Amino acid sequence: KDRPRVLSGIQPTSGSFHLGNYLGAVRQWVDLQEANDAFYMVVDLHAITVEQDPATLRENTRISAAQLLGAGLDPERCTLFVQSHVPEHAQLGWVMNCLTGFGEAARMTQFKDKSAKQGNDRTSVGLFTYPILQIADILLYQADAVPVGEDQRQHLELTRDLAERFNTRYAPTFTVPKPYILKETAKILDLQDPTAKMSKSASSAKGLVNLLDDPKVSAKKFKSAVTDTGTVVSYDEEGKAGVSNLLRIHSALSGQSVEQLVAHFEGKMYGALKTELAELFTDWVTPFQKRTQGFLEDPAELDRVLALGAGKAREVASETLASVYDRIGF
Ligand code: ADP
Ligand code: NA
Repeated sequence: KDRPRVLSGIQPTSGSFHLGNYLGAVRQWVDLQEANDAFYMVVDLHAITVEQDPATLRENTRISAAQLLGAGLDPERCTLFVQSHVPEHAQLGWVMNCLTGFGEAARMTQFKDKSAKQGNDRTSVGLFTYPILQIADILLYQADAVPVGEDQRQHLELTRDLAERFNTRYAPTFTVPKPYILKETAKILDLQDPTAKMSKSASSAKGLVNLLDDPKVSAKKFKSAVTDTGTVVSYDEEGKAGVSNLLRIHSALSGQSVEQLVAHFEGKMYGALKTELAELFTDWVTPFQKRTQGFLEDPAELDRVLALGAGKAREVASETLASVYDRIGF
């Protein structure tokens, strides 16, 4: 390996990514593909931990892949694939299930939160073991680093424990991956409720900016974003959460620092920031949508790109799985 290997995945659970997905994850994946040997996947196996309509899942998987390409992932520079196209994920997942203690898995706080919301009878065993499938996702590729949000830190600790456990019990087999925690500054808040993060499941329609919506609709959401009763544009995450969120988004899209922006908006009011942000977003999202649409309108090309990615992924995954099976005694 000449460059560090990184691996990350995104669920295809909604057709359109939202602005938080883009600024918090996808955009950083695009940056990381340059200096790293990057593997990125649409994790459709994870999506079925909750009930999915088959036609919708198939469609959303393609829309997700098209958006990743539209955002700038380059299949020549990284390996982009769909998880279910690489059967080794499920195969190594089983091995990892057998290596994980029940109590250890039961300590995962994200499962406790999610299952509490769903109720016991509606919660699948797959949701319980999803961190263990995630472990297989990572270890199959011998990833050095895993770009994840803070909420995934506990799962990554378990991944490191399991890699070390296997290496000790059998023979050195897996790279023990390090977390690469994505910048906290990239956390995007709900435009209507700037105390909460923008989220496809929790945000109201007006608080959520979907990348594939008509840009006019999104522009309106920026213009009616909730701010405070003040007038001076300044950065204060506690006192001016809404304005600070808009400044962070502006900064991410324009490349200007927050300090530069505060100077730029001196003597102007919140409305000026909102109007400028609406224009900035429209200027970015319009070509993004065009590129994404290009892949959706050319299914053969999208298939070709995803088959290329699955082929490259399987070369690595099958080699790892073969040595795992050998060591276990299969
Ligand atoms: P959601 O929270 O809307 O369900 P996901 O959990 O599918 O979104 O998140 C996919 C990726 O996008 C993860 O890497 C996550 O950290 C990132 N992400 C999601 N929401 C935000 C946000 N509001 N700000 C920054 N990053 C986010
Ligand atoms: Na999340």
